Amino acid sequence: MEKFIINGGNKLQGEVTISGAKNAAVAILPATLLCDEPCIIENIPNISDVTRIANILADLGADIKRIDKTTLSIDPTKIKSHVVNSGLASSMRASYYFLGALLGKFGKASVVMPGGCFFGSRPIDQHIKGFNALGAETEILNGAIIESIATSPLKGTYIYLDVVSVGATMNIMLAAVKAKGETIMENAAKEPHIVDLANFLNSMGANIRGAGTDVIKIRGVNRLHSTTYSIIPDQIEAGTYMAAAAATRGKIAVKNITPKHLDSISAKLREMGVIIEEYDDTIVVDATAKTLRRCNIKTMPHPGFPTDCQPQFAALLATVGGTSIINENVWDNRFQYIGELLRMGARISVEGKLAVIEGGTKLTAAPVSATDLRAGAALIIAALVADGTTEITNIKYIIRGYEEIVEKLQSIGADISIGYYEEPENAVAEVS
Ligand code: EPU
Repeated sequence: MEKFIINGGNKLQGEVTISGAKNAAVAILPATLLCDEPCIIENIPNISDVTRIANILADLGADIKRIDKTTLSIDPTKIKSHVVNSGLASSMRASYYFLGALLGKFGKASVVMPGGCFFGSRPIDQHIKGFNALGAETEILNGAIIESIATSPLKGTYIYLDVVSVGATMNIMLAAVKAKGETIMENAAKEPHIVDLANFLNSMGANIRGAGTDVIKIRGVNRLHSTTYSIIPDQIEAGTYMAAAAATRGKIAVKNITPKHLDSISAKLREMGVIIEEYDDTIVVDATAKTLRRCNIKTMPHPGFPTDCQPQFAALLATVGGTSIINENVWDNRFQYIGELLRMGARISVEGKLAVIEGGTKLTAAPVSATDLRAGAALIIAALVADGTTEITNIKYIIRGYEEIVEKLQSIGADISIGYYEEPENAVAEVS
């Protein structure tokens, strides 16, 4: 198994280019199967989560050709099956986007229940509520397979989401895009990847309005035509490098991004005393000149501070004098990584959804293990500032979501390399 070996102490400096957004790609690739012609998707991040989704599409019968490193041509016209291969889908939560997409295409879908959980319970009741409101009957068979079947064509309807859910908003959009009549979804999520999915579907001739607000209106269309579409830059990858630059008191230019998507992250860094300069598709993060200040963070659905940057900012705040409080307001339990930060000398206590960080102690190297993707990113940030050599195991989680993270970090001055170790026999199955 691979591990990261990081010698801390280098200030990050230079330029880093951000890849396409993981959480947009894992919905847009399943969405291609709704198209009635081939289409081309650009700016696809080269990460293992995306490879898994592409493999599921191929297994369903899509003809997928790689045009270049970040571009795929996908011809879904020969897909006949509505049953997703459980072996391919079980380790990935995002495989549930095949439910909405297959339901939208065939009026039926069967996908393995996304297993495991890292952040507390991860129900899918809002997805199911949406599918059923559109006219499907959705059952969880033996607690393992989600099967959604409509006996007559799906029909547009009114759906109020009880919780703001990224996954449910996207899945309902996928199911409703070819339904008869209009679907109105209220209390929808507003993340940039929701808008990206809507823009992609609209580029094929769908009629979706309001994505990015909390009311989305979807007027069903009969056919979706060929398109060439480029996925938005990854907000969370960008936020991770911004936090890393601040933690090392470095200065970097984060390129190929949409600054607006990073407003909440830039605002927090500014509050801490980091200088942020915004350009068209670049943000310069400069933490070289000043002593940084503590701050409090509450995670919220977009446009609030993203939960997916919470662990990275906890690592950053551990390097800043004073007491900072993080309130994790999206997931029940997203502080597992804090035990690993404690091994590195951080002083953090957790009480329910609150983490209290007594910052400013010198972090020191320790053997640590990534418990999930963003937890792994937080450990990298801590290791970049720690005294000594930190080894991070379980990096399979990290490479699921960060394209070429070693090369990118090396290019901005980090001392990071890959080493190897034997995986323990009782290793836990991975899920993201
Ligand atoms: N929720 C329900 N019922 C549902 C769906 C969600 O109660 O039917 C609750 C969840 O338990 C949670 C909250 O609603 O408390 C938000 O969950 P959401 O559905 O928005 O999350 P998700 O769609 O499962 C996506 C990202 C996560 C990210 C969250 C929140 C993907 C593949 N995953 O998950 O990303 O944390 O939105 O922004 O898009 C990551 O990239 O590291 C990651 C975990």
